[in-house]
Amino acid sequence: MKYKSQKVAYWFFAACMLLFSLQIVYGFIMAFAHMGFDGLHQIIPFNVARATHTNLLVMWMLLGFMGAAYFIIPEEADREIYWPRLAYVQLIAFVLVGVTAVIGFHFGWWEGRKFLEIPRPLDYLVVIDVLLFIANIGMTIWKGRRMTTTSMVLFFGLLMAALLYLPGMIDTNNQTTDSYLRWWVVHLWVEGVWELIMGGILAFLLVKLTGVDREIVEKWLYVIVGLTFLSGILGTGHHYYYIGTPRYWLIIGGVFSAMEPLAFLAMAIYGITMWRKAGRHHPNQIALLWTVGTCVMSFVGAGFLGFAHTLPQVNLYTHGTLVTAMHGHLAFWGAYAMLILAIISYSLPLMTGRKRYKGPTASLAFWASNIGMLAMTVAFGIAGVAQVTLERRMGLDFLDVQKEIQVHFLGLVIAASLFTVGAGAFIYDFIRYGMPNAEPTGSPLEDGDGDQDESSDAELAPEVAE
Ligand code: HEM
Ligand code: HEM
Ligand SMILES: [Fe+2]
Repeated sequence: MKYKSQKVAYWFFAACMLLFSLQIVYGFIMAFAHMGFDGLHQIIPFNVARATHTNLLVMWMLLGFMGAAYFIIPEEADREIYWPRLAYVQLIAFVLVGVTAVIGFHFGWWEGRKFLEIPRPLDYLVVIDVLLFIANIGMTIWKGRRMTTTSMVLFFGLLMAALLYLPGMIDTNNQTTDSYLRWWVVHLWVEGVWELIMGGILAFLLVKLTGVDREIVEKWLYVIVGLTFLSGILGTGHHYYYIGTPRYWLIIGGVFSAMEPLAFLAMAIYGITMWRKAGRHHPNQIALLWTVGTCVMSFVGAGFLGFAHTLPQVNLYTHGTLVTAMHGHLAFWGAYAMLILAIISYSLPLMTGRKRYKGPTASLAFWASNIGMLAMTVAFGIAGVAQVTLERRMGLDFLDVQKEIQVHFLGLVIAASLFTVGAGAFIYDFIRYGMPNAEPTGSPLEDGDGDQDESSDAELAPEVAE
């Protein structure tokens, strides 16, 4: 850690860990409900558990991105955060709004629009909070000593993410118009601007962890940004197939969304190439594993499994079934959850001065969570294909089919338990790392002379006893 104010990232990441744990709890509530054990129904009905599970997910992702930006931008811009105190205020406000929203869901205070359930008054608070965050990192870059491609891509990704939240707030009584606009937020986030945020964070991590030249890493960033926009914007059409929008969306959505995996493929090749080019052995290999893992798993979950149901001929049958949940889990996990766990794995040793990355729990966290999540994806996939066959092809009633596929959720629970062991190991390590240091713990080479040595960090930092 080069600058004192970067340590605010620690608190964003701590909030991530808390919400991530809660998200898993609600996942299990739903998995058991799917098996027929719905004892909590009176207090937490399925729809409430689902909204809580997915909104906690989105909240911890946003907190993770903000934490990542507060860690990365000062290093890239070569200065302290412009308004360090505002960062803390903004974190507390965000968590308070999030907790209020989640409690509200349990009392029926929500909008009932998948992923955008947060009630309108709280939406305004979210927007204000995120704009303050954007202003803070924007000023840090503006007043900084250098503007790198990495920080600009990260900044524009975050700014666009904030602005794209607004179309989702347009009021309408028309179901089709509502869906149409909802996808501007949900789709253009995960298959558009969040990919820019991802590109920016990955570029930072790869520069630091592999020692490959910044020029080379950032050249790839342009390719990824180009492919993302080329395919992702019109790719929104894969959500407009049979919802009352004009028929031309069938062809536009089909063609452009079929090209979306290319951006993720480029990321996978990028991660692996940089890994192989690595000119030196960075001591924090586990952070590198999470980073390259993100590149690969996002291709599998988002690219490959996204493609699996993106053509209109397929989506006609799979829409809104557990096939979607299959893809949703591995895509969110592979692209964004793993990315956040990567930046946490990289930055914690630097913020706390401790090096737990060599311990067995760090490896357990990576392997158990990834194998568990892959197995969960398979379980959802089997349940999903069975559901599509029985309900959509054979015309059985929705609830009869849900009974038929209950058995597959035993597999889900077993897989999710393995996943939880991994996630638990990660959180355990996070706690064991302890509090961040009051003063920067960077290497002697990180002298803040504006001519930063790209390869400098933990490798050269003096060993600090645990
Ligand atoms: C990291 C990137 C991605 C994430 C996090 C993600 C996540 C999700 C989620 C959560 C849903 C359900 C949304 C809802 O019903 O409200 C969804 C739907 C969908 N995704 Fe993705 N996705 C990603 C990338 C992709 C890509 C690249 C493709 C295509 C190649 C794709 C194709 C689809 C399709 C076709 C649906 C609609 C499913 C349905 O009709 O029920 N996704 N995605
Ligand atoms: C112990 C772990 C978990 C369990 C047991 C679990 C279980 C579930 C269940 C049962 C659903 C509802 C499916 C339905 O609509 O019937 C669901 C939805 C969802 N979960 Fe999880 N989950 C877990 C962890 C996660 C994680 C770590 C992520 C993201 C990284 C995630 C992302 C999602 C998403 C995006 C949806 C909505 C999918 C859709 O739109 O169809 N879950 N989860
Ligand atoms: Fe999409």
